[in-house]
Amino acid sequence: MDKSTFEERKAINGQMHSRQRHDSAHKHVAGTADYIDDMPEPAGTLHGALGMTDRAHAEITEMDLSAVIAAPGVICVLTARDMPHSNDISPSHLHDEPVLADGIVQFHGQPAFAVIAETRDIARRAARLAKISYRDLPHFTDITDAVAHGGQLVTQPLTLQRGDAEAELEKAPRRLRGQMRIGGQEHFYLEGHIALAIPGEDDEVTVWSSTQHPSEIQHMVSHVLGVPSNAVTVNVRRMGGGFGGKETQGNQFAALAAVAAKKLNRAVKFRPDRDEDMTATGKRHDFLVDYDVGFDDDGRIHAVHANYAARCGYSSDLSGPVTDRALFHADSSYFYPHVKLTSQPLKTNTVSNTAYRGFGGPQGMVGGERMIEEIAYALGKDPLEIRKLNFYGETGSGRDITPYHQHVEDNIIARVVAELEADADYQARRKAIIDFNRTSRVIRKGIALTPVKFGISFTLTAFNQAGALVHVYQDGSIHLNHGGTEMGQGLYVKVAQVIADSFQVDLDRVRITATTTGKVPNTSATAASSGTDLNGMAAFDAARQIKERLVAFACERWQTTAENVSFVPDHVKIGEERVAFPEFIKLAYMARVQLSAAGFYKTPKIHWDRATGRGTPFYYFAYGASVSEVSIDTLTGEYMVDRVDVLHDVGRSLNPAIDLGQIEGGFVQGMGWLTTEELWWDDKGRLRTHAPSTYKIPLASDRPKIFNVKLAEWAENAEKTIGRSKAVGEPPFMLPISVLEALSMAVASVADYRECPRLDAPATPERVLMAVERLRQTR
Ligand code: MTE
Ligand code: MOS
Repeated sequence: MDKSTFEERKAINGQMHSRQRHDSAHKHVAGTADYIDDMPEPAGTLHGALGMTDRAHAEITEMDLSAVIAAPGVICVLTARDMPHSNDISPSHLHDEPVLADGIVQFHGQPAFAVIAETRDIARRAARLAKISYRDLPHFTDITDAVAHGGQLVTQPLTLQRGDAEAELEKAPRRLRGQMRIGGQEHFYLEGHIALAIPGEDDEVTVWSSTQHPSEIQHMVSHVLGVPSNAVTVNVRRMGGGFGGKETQGNQFAALAAVAAKKLNRAVKFRPDRDEDMTATGKRHDFLVDYDVGFDDDGRIHAVHANYAARCGYSSDLSGPVTDRALFHADSSYFYPHVKLTSQPLKTNTVSNTAYRGFGGPQGMVGGERMIEEIAYALGKDPLEIRKLNFYGETGSGRDITPYHQHVEDNIIARVVAELEADADYQARRKAIIDFNRTSRVIRKGIALTPVKFGISFTLTAFNQAGALVHVYQDGSIHLNHGGTEMGQGLYVKVAQVIADSFQVDLDRVRITATTTGKVPNTSATAASSGTDLNGMAAFDAARQIKERLVAFACERWQTTAENVSFVPDHVKIGEERVAFPEFIKLAYMARVQLSAAGFYKTPKIHWDRATGRGTPFYYFAYGASVSEVSIDTLTGEYMVDRVDVLHDVGRSLNPAIDLGQIEGGFVQGMGWLTTEELWWDDKGRLRTHAPSTYKIPLASDRPKIFNVKLAEWAENAEKTIGRSKAVGEPPFMLPISVLEALSMAVASVADYRECPRLDAPATPERVLMAVERLRQTR
């Protein structure tokens, strides 16, 4: 089977490992890609708005909604009491997240009621007519405050431990302690949250939701309504960006829309505006890292002890797994002979923080890279030299074991870094920059090369499964469905390529269809960068089943054996005969061959025991590295990213065009996180950065002036992933750690690089300026 030659295969437009445009790219540009708010509304659709509170922590003593209900055009008002079965949308087992605040307000902006009205505008205006009385309770909004007041946790902390960190820190020739603040981040997806619920007969309801996790929306809606999962169908064709912000945060809107739709027997849509979306939905966790590192005069690390405290907000949401993943990446690419890492998932009176590209991993890595930077400044060396000295070693070297006791078996970091170092001319440029800084009074430059090693798999082993549904119709057209969701990352086109390649048909023959809980059940969130790994394999499995049946049919009809049947471009070859694919399918149909299959995949090898902090949580690692060069203005703190070079490992790329896009996008988004995007809560616990006017994401003009991005062409996944590819969604997000470190070098130049500037993230122009001023005073 499938002995087609490479030449024959190359004729197919849509094979794996080829550059293919995003299936919707032209529609994104032309405005013809349908998002939920573009769908024709069912007759009589009503619109919802959140009724938000304005205390960080308080008891609601009275909620007078009479003016809201009396407003013309308002149909009804929902409170916690109106949830038919349960006022709970917590994605964790702790059940600590209500749909609507019930008696107690836990963060400024927490919704306590919802208004359903004829139009969105009426609903929004009416929501402001509520009169709520409160009895204030003490509130703690940031990490320091929370710790100072007892440090209540939202979930179980984690400890990763190997060797004896305490003792080795005492013994180490040198020792450094420090602290770093790492900011959070707003997702700023272009399409905000939205849900449209359409009531059906009996207890049924259909929900269109902008979600990365249709199965979770299904479970939450069924739980809140008190109906079985089979009564709830959730659909999503695409999101205008998710970035982790739509793993759990769509629950509230979907639940409210569904409750109102069933109550009123009319379609109900919820679409918060940008300010409400930014206020009422969770963000990336900010962290406070305390580190203690022991090393020798060469810069070799002996022991690390670090605590990662995170602002989790008022409820657990995904904070457990997020803070776990921070610890899993606190080693970055480095071997710690003795190590103890602890997480501290703190409860605060702020919106509950959630998943965001990298899922805590980026915060973990930033902490790890800070320690390298500290060691380098302490020894007066180039941080790159310290990095190389501490990279994980070859398998069996004794330097290949992580703090969670997984062996790093696929280590290519040294090769990636060496190639990039040469390619980007790092050494010569660093020298030139040091020369430049010697004579330049106002403008100072910096350069840094940082590595990425990111673990792929959900750390909750059960989530690493996926399903797909493939139908071949009588005319030879193919219908593809799987459990993954499309948020712009190109998952749909990659999985379609797997199917086109399997059947050897043009990509045009494969229709990509909206994700729906009715076709593929019990799906995991499209997250942890695993969308293609999981759904690609499930689709491959479905195609395999259909092809096996087709081959058996051909053998019978042409009286031959399987070796003589192959799928060649747009044809099936039986012996010397070539039958056009549609014709062949028609014959198979007439012979009553089942032309539909459900595929399934589960990731092999992985296991993780959280209680002991041991296991193999990751199937493999994705690697990468970047060099960034920056200029800062030492009088104002303003800066520019002059040049970036990236070398990134995606295994054998399924689609180099999409992968490059993910790397560029991930880089710029990560750069925004580490430079200009700053969340700020005032002393009342109000988020004051809740609009683009006060929250600065990167602009086109902020992109690196020179931006060279390359895939490691030689890379191949050592594990049997789909086409030997690797996940690409999140790992590139951590490449711009080199921007932060380059800024830090430029700052350090004002004091002859004698001191580590300890630049916190985000390194806003203000922070850069303050760091410059502080170092100038110490010189
Ligand atoms: N790319 C785009 N354009 N939009 C997104 O929302 N989300 C990121 C990443 N790339 C995102 C994106 C995140 S957080 C993840 S986990 C992965 O895509 C999810 O998709 P995948 O598993 O198919 O890579
Ligand atoms: Mo991505 S943070 O795993 O949705």
